[in-house]
Amino acid sequence: MAKFIIEGGRPLSGRIVPAGNKNEVLPAIMASILTDETVTLRRVPRIRDVETTLSILTLLGVQSEWAGDDTLTLNARGISNYKPDPALCNHIRASILLLGPLLSRFGKIEIPTPGGDVIGARRIDSHFEIVEALGGSIEFGNPIIGSIKKVIGADVYLDEPSVTATENLLLLAVRSEGTTRLYNAACEPHVVGLCKLLNKMGAKITGVGSNHLTIEGVSQLHGAEHTVGPDFMEIGSYLCLGAIADGSITIDRVDVADLRFVLKTFSRLGIHPKIDNDSFLIEGGRTIEMQNDIGDRVATIYSGPWPAFPTDLMSVSIVAATQAMGTKIFHEKMFEGRMFFTDKLLAMGANIVLCDPHRIVVTGPKQLYASKMSSPDVRAGMAMLMAALVAKGTSVIDNIYQIERGYFGVHEKLLSLGAAILREQ
Ligand code: EPU
Repeated sequence: MAKFIIEGGRPLSGRIVPAGNKNEVLPAIMASILTDETVTLRRVPRIRDVETTLSILTLLGVQSEWAGDDTLTLNARGISNYKPDPALCNHIRASILLLGPLLSRFGKIEIPTPGGDVIGARRIDSHFEIVEALGGSIEFGNPIIGSIKKVIGADVYLDEPSVTATENLLLLAVRSEGTTRLYNAACEPHVVGLCKLLNKMGAKITGVGSNHLTIEGVSQLHGAEHTVGPDFMEIGSYLCLGAIADGSITIDRVDVADLRFVLKTFSRLGIHPKIDNDSFLIEGGRTIEMQNDIGDRVATIYSGPWPAFPTDLMSVSIVAATQAMGTKIFHEKMFEGRMFFTDKLLAMGANIVLCDPHRIVVTGPKQLYASKMSSPDVRAGMAMLMAALVAKGTSVIDNIYQIERGYFGVHEKLLSLGAAILREQ
């Protein structure tokens, strides 16, 4: 099992370019199933989740080819199979995103229950709701079996703004009869990216970026080219790291507009990057001070659906808070398993009280000390890596496949910043 060996405390300085957003590229790859023509995607991170998704699609009959480092072409003319490989689907949560495109293409699906990070119950009820609302039937089991004779537009009211359920609805409803109105849609930048790609393919989606999407069905889609947006989870992670390590990190090719709300929360943690066009400069080596609420009350950082603070940035923010002056409550509303990794930070010397599965209290700053850890999921893994990079001594993190499946070139990027990090098989 591959592991990282990290000697903490080195200053980290230099420039990095974030990869494309993992959670945009995965549904974008699935969108290629909707046409016989070629879909070209740029700024595609060559991470494990992408490779696994491509393997699933290849077995179904989709042709894919890397044309350069981060350009991917996909052609689904030869797709002939609607039963994706269970073992591969077991690796990634995003396999649920086959539901919309395969139903659209074949009128039937047989997809394994999705795998992925064990960070909570992760209900899939909304995915079932949308299939039924658009005229199909679907039965839970392993595999999940569903069918639809004709996709007919409808008004759909999601009971929660699920990211992948919104994406599945888009992937199913774009080729339909009539108009679909989706209320309480997710509107994360990756959902926006998918809408843009689908519109380039000939779909008619309006309301893009809001939580009310209107999809006027079309009968056919065509090929298109699309550049995936920068990964704001990666950018947020390096901003937290840059704030707590010595040195200064510049992050280029970011989309500042997308990050306004994230920056607002970061400022309450004492993280204030300088913005220069499409770059952030974050300087470390200084005391960061968390902001209290009016009346000097301890403030709470909540996660929530976009534009609220993203759950995927909770773990790295918690590590930043261990190094900041003050006290903060972190309330992870969405996933009940996401806070458990904080016992590792506690073992490293952090001052953290785990109140219940959803809430912790962090008081900083506290010196962290090296530890031996195993990465439980992609975001907690990155958080542990950050903790190790600022800790005293040499830490070992194994199961790093969990980090690498979401963070493109993490080892190379950290080396280029001056980290003492060794990757061992
Ligand atoms: N939820 C709420 N309230 C809401 C919306 C969701 O409590 O308003 C709960 C749901 O009940 C569910 C959980 O939050 O248990 C996740 O919600 P969602 O269905 O939106 O998650 P997802 O579509 O399965 C995607 C990302 C996740 C990311 C979540 C939330 C992909 C492939 N996955 O999952 O990404 O955490 O949205 O933003 O897009 C990651 O990249 O590390 C990752 C886990």
